[in-house]
Amino acid sequence: MSLLAVLLSSLFFFSGIQVAAAAAISAPGCSSSTWSWTSNKQGQSACTVAAYMLSSCSGGSFTVAPLASSSQAYPGPTGGSDDADLCLCNTITYSLLSACDACQGSEWVSWATYKTNCTSVQAASSFPNPVPVGTSVPLWALIDVTVEGTWDPITAAIVGDTPEAGPGTVITSQ
Ligand SMILES: *[C@@H]1O[C@H](CO)[C@@H](O)[C@H](O)[C@H]1NC(C)=O
Repeated sequence: MSLLAVLLSSLFFFSGIQVAAAAAISAPGCSSSTWSWTSNKQGQSACTVAAYMLSSCSGGSFTVAPLASSSQAYPGPTGGSDDADLCLCNTITYSLLSACDACQGSEWVSWATYKTNCTSVQAASSFPNPVPVGTSVPLWALIDVTVEGTWDPITAAIVGDTPEAGPGTVITSQ
């Protein structure tokens, strides 16, 4: 094989990996009709949108594991390397994961509890990276939850889905 052929095949090899990584988003189904208003226009649940947002700090892949029971909730960082993950330590991901708790029949934790182990926290209603390709963030996820101290589904439902923050949008609080 010539050097060029080797180079080309490695390019294809790496671009193949990139495509696979971009698609490696996994989240619970979250089909409860009670919470269908939390989905975006593409029909992605809050769990799926959370996984996309979290993937932007982890090389394009992320798995939000299903809760094992309705007594569980997503806790925020748990005292490991994710304590410094600003994709986790922000109010937008907190809101999305709280809705993801809700649609699996669970209660969600308060913002104060969620961020307990965060070494630093992104400014309220802002996100460290542009919205990744493949998803859009519902407007309700941009509510400043530090005001009430918790995700509030009633306020969220009133605010609703649109306008969504689409791919490439840098979400910053004003
Ligand atoms: C914070 O981290 C500790 C481990 O250092 C863990 O036991 C605890 O559950 C975490 N708290 C929250 C709210 O996630």
